[in-house]
Amino acid sequence: SDSDPLQDFCIGDLKASPSINGFPCKSAVSASDFFYSGLGGPLDTSNPNGVTVAPANVLTFPGLNTLGISMNNVELAPGGVNPPHLHPRATEVGTIIEGSVFVGFLTTNNTLFSKVLNAGEVFVIPRGLVHFQWNVGQVKARMITAFNSQLPGAVVLPSTLFGSNPEIPNAVLTRAFRTDVTTVQNLKSKFMRYE
Ligand code: GLV
Ligand code: MN
Repeated sequence: SDSDPLQDFCIGDLKASPSINGFPCKSAVSASDFFYSGLGGPLDTSNPNGVTVAPANVLTFPGLNTLGISMNNVELAPGGVNPPHLHPRATEVGTIIEGSVFVGFLTTNNTLFSKVLNAGEVFVIPRGLVHFQWNVGQVKARMITAFNSQLPGAVVLPSTLFGSNPEIPNAVLTRAFRTDVTTVQNLKSKFMRYE
């Protein structure tokens, strides 16, 4: 859903300041600008959620600048969860390369659409809707996701709500979640990564 390009390509000059949409074009262009080797696994998924994402977006692969597309390699440990998140700037389409993944998204009316997918199966997440993936198999799961934006962005709900800097006031979160300060502080302690 990015805007249309007005030239064949515009390799992003990441050292320049981003302009209104993406990066200014780099002047010297070579073949290597159109290739990227960063999506290969295996990725280390030993983290609390059991998920690691390797992105090929404009920031890692500047050849995508102005072209309105990007991809991720997502690997999930058995039981691992890619936590509920949304992409403000893109629809997501993905395919399972290996393993067995419970994929779900929520409509703006809070209907959950979900399915367990295996290798070769494809899912779509409409732009801006909250979604998640859960490895329900016994082995590592791997999927490739793609986006109609060079930089889809990700709002990851747990860390957005409980790990922001500065913090959302406890009065807001206790009221919003209809719970107490102890519960909110406990959640914040798991997501706040700054001093
Ligand atoms: C999966 O949801 C991803 O954003 O790559
Ligand atoms: Mn996603």
